Amino acid sequence: MELIKENLPCHVAIIMDGNGRWAKRHGLKRYQGHEKGADTVRMVVRTTRELGIPYLTLYAFSEENWKRSSIEIQTLMRLLNRFLESELNEMMENGIRLLAMGRLYKLPSATQKLLYKTMEITSKNKDMTLILALSYGGRQEILDAINEILKQKYEPGEITEEILRSHMYLKEIPDPDLLIRTSGEMRISNFMIWQIAYTELYITPVLWPDFSKEDYLSALNDYQKRDRRFGGAD
Ligand code: IPE
Ligand code: IPE
Ligand code: MG
Repeated sequence: MELIKENLPCHVAIIMDGNGRWAKRHGLKRYQGHEKGADTVRMVVRTTRELGIPYLTLYAFSEENWKRSSIEIQTLMRLLNRFLESELNEMMENGIRLLAMGRLYKLPSATQKLLYKTMEITSKNKDMTLILALSYGGRQEILDAINEILKQKYEPGEITEEILRSHMYLKEIPDPDLLIRTSGEMRISNFMIWQIAYTELYITPVLWPDFSKEDYLSALNDYQKRDRRFGGAD
């Protein structure tokens, strides 16, 4: 499969779904699916960096995921902590800057500390930006932006797209060009609903723990065949 370097997306976003179903299919516990899914995260980060794609956003934990059992939430937070600790060297060696978006104050304090520490240490890295969406919801992001805007003196009619955008969690990041969702659900599940207005969607039935480098390259290859018109005409 040949990828055209000039036509790679600038920003790939991924809804990493299907860990639970993968575990069930293998007669394992849900947490084991999440553990296996963490390996896919490493592969995707590495491949994105190798290809020279500047931005990668991973939907790791949604606002609605707080509804899950405390055991499952603890497992996910433990895996996140482990990922942040084990990947720091690789992030530094490969020039990867880490950012996070969401209602981060809801995360366990140890996770918050580790997250802020990792963001600080990697903040000068310039080759790629890895964004983790954590305790993230697209509706909540828009609501948080509106509540920030209301602290200032605006008159009706004065709020522009640029003003709303400048109050989003990460205002300087370009909108995703490609959104991948694994495990076949035909929905967005409250992910970046403002930013994906013109994003190309790619949904694959492959479960996240099974998502391979070849699957990722296939998604990118498919993206390269798209005709992005943004509402215009040829
Ligand atoms: C994705 O896998 C991981 C998170 C949402 C944190 P799921 O845990 O949603 O797996 P399924 O959808 O139940 O298979
Ligand atoms: C979306 O997956 C959230 C993440 C991948 C973090 P979910 O499994 O939570 O979404 P639904 O419940 O299938 O819509
Ligand atoms: Mg799911």
